[in-house]
Amino acid sequence: MTNRNHFVLSVALFSLIFNVILVSSQPLAVDCGSKGGKDEDGRTWEPDTKYLLQSNGSVQLQAGYQDPSLLSTVPYMNARIFTSPATYQFPIKTKERYLVRFHFYPSAFPNFNITNSYFSVAAGGLTLMNNFSAAITCQALTQAYLVNEYSLAPSDSEVLNINLTPSTNYTNSFAFVNGIELIAMPNLFGMTNMVGYDSSSVDVSTENLQMMFRLNVGGQSVPPSKDAGGLLRSWYNDDPYLYGAAMGVNIEASKNLRIDYKDLPKSSAPEDVYRTARAMGRDSKLNLKFNLTWLFQVDANFTYIVRLHFCEFQLDKVNQRVFNVYINNQSAQADPSPADIIAFTDGKGVPTYKDYAIVVSDGPGDEMVQIDMTPSTASKPEYYDSQLNGVEIFKLNDGSKNLAGSNPQPSAMLLQAESEPKRSFKSNSSVIGGATGGAAAAFVVVALLIVVYTKKKRVHGVESHTSSWLPIYGNSHTTGSKSDGKSNSGHLSTLAQGLSRHFSISEIKQATKNFDESNVIGVGGFGKVYKGIIDGGTKVAIKRSNPSSEQGINEFQTEIEMLSKLRHKHLVSLIGFCEDGGEMCLVYDYMARGTLREHIYNNKKSHLSWKQRLEICIGAARGLHYLHTGAKYTIIHRDVKTTNILLDENWVAKVSDFGLSKTGPDMNQGHVSTVVKGSFGYLDPEYFRRQQLTEKSDVYSFGVVLFEVLCARPALNPSLPKEQVSLADWALHCQRKGVLEDIIDPHLKGKINPECLKKFADTAEKCLSDHGLERPHMGDVLWNLEFALQLQETADGSKPGSSSTSDQGSVHSTDSSVRSQREALHVGNLSLGSEHELSEEVDNESAIFSQLVNPKGR
Ligand SMILES: *[C@@H]1O[C@H](CO)[C@@H](O)[C@H](O)[C@H]1NC(C)=O
Ligand SMILES: *[C@@H]1O[C@H](CO)[C@@H](O)[C@H](O)[C@H]1NC(C)=O
Ligand SMILES: *[C@@H]1O[C@H](CO)[C@@H](O)[C@H](O)[C@H]1NC(C)=O
Ligand SMILES: *[C@@H]1O[C@H](CO)[C@@H](O)[C@H](O)[C@H]1NC(C)=O
Ligand SMILES: *[C@@H]1O[C@H](CO)[C@@H](O)[C@H](O)[C@H]1NC(C)=O
Ligand SMILES: *[C@@H]1O[C@H](CO)[C@@H](O)[C@H](O)[C@H]1NC(C)=O
Ligand SMILES: *[C@@H]1O[C@H](CO)[C@@H](O)[C@H](O)[C@H]1NC(C)=O
Repeated sequence: MTNRNHFVLSVALFSLIFNVILVSSQPLAVDCGSKGGKDEDGRTWEPDTKYLLQSNGSVQLQAGYQDPSLLSTVPYMNARIFTSPATYQFPIKTKERYLVRFHFYPSAFPNFNITNSYFSVAAGGLTLMNNFSAAITCQALTQAYLVNEYSLAPSDSEVLNINLTPSTNYTNSFAFVNGIELIAMPNLFGMTNMVGYDSSSVDVSTENLQMMFRLNVGGQSVPPSKDAGGLLRSWYNDDPYLYGAAMGVNIEASKNLRIDYKDLPKSSAPEDVYRTARAMGRDSKLNLKFNLTWLFQVDANFTYIVRLHFCEFQLDKVNQRVFNVYINNQSAQADPSPADIIAFTDGKGVPTYKDYAIVVSDGPGDEMVQIDMTPSTASKPEYYDSQLNGVEIFKLNDGSKNLAGSNPQPSAMLLQAESEPKRSFKSNSSVIGGATGGAAAAFVVVALLIVVYTKKKRVHGVESHTSSWLPIYGNSHTTGSKSDGKSNSGHLSTLAQGLSRHFSISEIKQATKNFDESNVIGVGGFGKVYKGIIDGGTKVAIKRSNPSSEQGINEFQTEIEMLSKLRHKHLVSLIGFCEDGGEMCLVYDYMARGTLREHIYNNKKSHLSWKQRLEICIGAARGLHYLHTGAKYTIIHRDVKTTNILLDENWVAKVSDFGLSKTGPDMNQGHVSTVVKGSFGYLDPEYFRRQQLTEKSDVYSFGVVLFEVLCARPALNPSLPKEQVSLADWALHCQRKGVLEDIIDPHLKGKINPECLKKFADTAEKCLSDHGLERPHMGDVLWNLEFALQLQETADGSKPGSSSTSDQGSVHSTDSSVRSQREALHVGNLSLGSEHELSEEVDNESAIFSQLVNPKGR
C-alpha cells in the first residue's frame, strides 16, 4: 500500500470517528413484538418491551406469510398489535434533531383482520399519520411493506413519546408496527427562501418534516449501510422521476478526485451522491432547447422543502457551467441569480446543498413538485449546461402540527378482484407483492392516476390503431381525476371500469368454441392463448388463466392494470377481460402475424429483409420508450424478448405481455427490489446480482433482442459449445473482436450496409453494458436505430424516411428482392395463428430449456 493510500485511509478513519462523536447517541433500532435479532445488514434490532409504556391490549404476532420481496425478516416478520391506545417512550437528548423511521408490513395476522386496521401515530404531540391504513397504502402502491421517515425538530423534552391509537370509527380496529428506528442527527436545516415570494423565508431548523423522496441523481442507489453520518438513509436513482424524453447524461467524478466536504457536515449526503450527477450533454446548442425536468407527486396543502445537492467535479472556474433552477415554474435560482456550483463552493470536488421552500396548494394541476433546470444565457457562461447531483424533498408540518395525508385509493380492478371469494388471496399485500416498501405514504397519490380515457369501446381493435400516440394520461382530465380520486372514490371506480370491456364467460366460450384445443395459438406462464371471434367477425386473442396458477392470478391483475392504462401504436391493445364462472381471461387484438421470433429463425417460412427487421425493432423500441417515458411514471416491462414482440397484419411491431410489469413511483423510490423475474437469456445481469430493477433492465433485454434479430438464433441455445450458449455473451465477444459479421444471419450476408450494421451493432452492444448506468435510454436506442435505418435506406437508394412499419403492406420499394420476399411472406403466413404456432413454440429448444431451468416457464 502506498503512502498516499495510507493517508486517504487515515483521513477516512478520522472522519468516521469524528462523525461517531458528532452523532452523540447511538442509533436505536427496535423490532416490535419480538425478542429482537439481526437484519440482513448485520444490524441489531432490540426487543420493544422496555420502551412500551402502556401495553394494555397489546399482542405480539408473527406474520403469517413472508413476502418474497422482503429484504430481511427482521423487523418485518414480527409485529406488535394494539387494540387500545399505546405509547412507546424513548430517551432522547434535548435540543437535538431526531430521525424516526416506522416500518410496516401489513400481513395476514392470526385472529386479526388487517383490513380493519386504521390508526393514528403521533410523536411528541405531532400527528404523523392519521386514519392510516398500511394495508390500503401498500395495496395501492403494490408494495409489500412501507417505511415512513420523519425528521423531528429539537425539543426540550428528555423523552420522546410515540402514541399509536386505533381508530374508533371502525369496529375491531387495531394499530400495529413492525419496527421503529430513532437516530439523532445534526440539524441540517435552517433559514430557507420561499420560492415565488420575494425575500420571504421560513426557519426550518425548528420544524418537523416528513421525508418524501431521496435520490442520487445520475447515480446508482445507495443502501442504508453505505449512507454517510450513520443516518442509514436509502438513496434511490432518479430515472423514474425524470419527465419527458430529454434525460440528459450521467456524469461521474474521476476515481482519484477527492471529495472535500470543507464546512459541510459529512452527514449531508454520502460521497456516492456527490460523485455522480446528471448533466444535459455536450451539445450547447441542443441544451438551450430543453429543460431537465423531474416530477414528484405530493400531498396538497403542505409546504415542501426541496434540497438540491451539488458538487462540480469536471470544471474548476466560475462562469463555466451556469444554470437556472425553477421549482413549479417559479424561479428558485434563476437569472439574475442563477446557479454556479463553483461560485457556491469555491472549488472543484467541494459539495454543497441548497434548500428551497415551495407551497403546494390544492388547485387543478397541483399536488406535484416539478424541478426544471436550463442553462443560464444571461450570464454567458463558457458551457450551456446544468447539473444536479442529488435531491431530497421533505414535507413540512402544517400550522396544526400535522404531517398526515390521506390514504391512497387502490384502483377499482384490484378491489373487485379481491372481493371475489373464490379467488381469495393470501393477504392483501402478497397479492400484488413484488415491489418493496420504502415509499412514504404520501406517494400514494400516484396510484390514483388511473387513466381518464374517453369512453371509447375498443371492440374492433385493429381499426383503432389509427388512433395511436395518445398520451396515457389525458390532459385536463388527469388533474380532475387526481383530486376527485382523493375525495370521491366512486367517481374513480366508474372511470376505471369504463376502461375496458367486460365479457361474460358464455361470450368467451362462444368465441373460442368452448376453449377448443384447435384454437390454441400459444402457451405462456399464465396459461393458454386461444384465437377467437367476437361480435360476429372480429378476430381476437384470448388468454385464459390457468386456474391453478397463483402466479397467473397476479400477472392477470398486473396486466389488466397496465394495459387498461396504456394505448399506443406499438403496444398490444387489451379489448377487455372476463372474470366470471371461475374463469379469468384477457381479450386482446389479434396479431395476425404472431411473434417476431417465428419470423427470424426456426421456421420454414421465408425470411424478413434487413429493412423490415429494422423497422420492427424501431417499432418495438418506440413501444418500450413510451412505457419508460411516455407516461409520467416509468413502466418497466421486465420480460422483453422476441416472443413478446408481436406483429400485426401490416408488420407493425407491438410489445405484449405486461404480466410482470412494474410502474415507476409505485416502486421503491426509484427501483424495485424484488424476486428476479424475466426470461433466461434476456436477464439483466445487474438486476440479477442486485435484485434492483430499473428501466435499464429492459434496455439490456432489448439489446439481446437486437442481436437475436441480427444473428437469427435464440438468446440461449444449450446445444452450442459453451462459449456460444448465451447470445449476449457470444455476440459481445464477436463484436469486440470485430468478427460480428461471421455470426450474422446468413440470409442477411451482403445485404446490410456496413455503416448501418456498425450503428446497429454498436447500439446493441451499448444496451448490453454491464452497468445500467452505462446503457443508453430507450429514447437513444430508438434514435440510433432510426439513424441505422436511414443509413440503410440511403445505401439502398430508396427515399429515406418514406417508409414506416405501418405502410409495409403496400409494396413501394424498388428493391425487387425485398418485394418478392414480402410477397412470399404474405403467402407463407396464411397459416399463422393456427395450431402450428403452438407446436413450434413447444418444439423450440430454447422454450424447453427455459422450462427446464424454471418449471413455471419464466
Ligand atoms: C387496561 O385494561 C383493563 C381492562 O381491559 C382496564 O380496566 C384498565 O383500566 C386498562 N389500563 C389502562 C392503563 O388503560
Ligand atoms: C376482513 O374484513 C373485511 C371487511 O371488514 C371482510 O370483507 C373480510 O372478509 C375479512 N377477512 C377475513 C379473513 O375475515
Ligand atoms: C372519525 O370520523 C370523524 C368524522 O367522520 C372524524 O372527524 C374523526 O377524526 C374520525 N376519527 C378517527 C380516529 O379517524
Ligand atoms: C386544501 O385546503 C383547502 C382549503 O382549506 C380545502 O378545501 C381542500 O379540501 C384541502 N385539500 C386537501 C387535499 O386536503
Ligand atoms: C409548469 O408549466 C407547464 C407549462 O406551462 C405546465 O404544464 C405544468 O403543469 C406547470 N407545472 C406546475 C407544477 O405548475
Ligand atoms: C423550462 O422551464 C421553465 C420553468 O418551468 C419554463 O419557463 C421554460 O419554458 C422551460 N423551457 C423549455 C425549453 O421547456
Ligand atoms: C379513512 O380512510 C378510509 C380509507 O382510505 C377512507 O375511506 C375514510 O374516509 C377515511 N376517514 C376519515 C375520517 O378520513
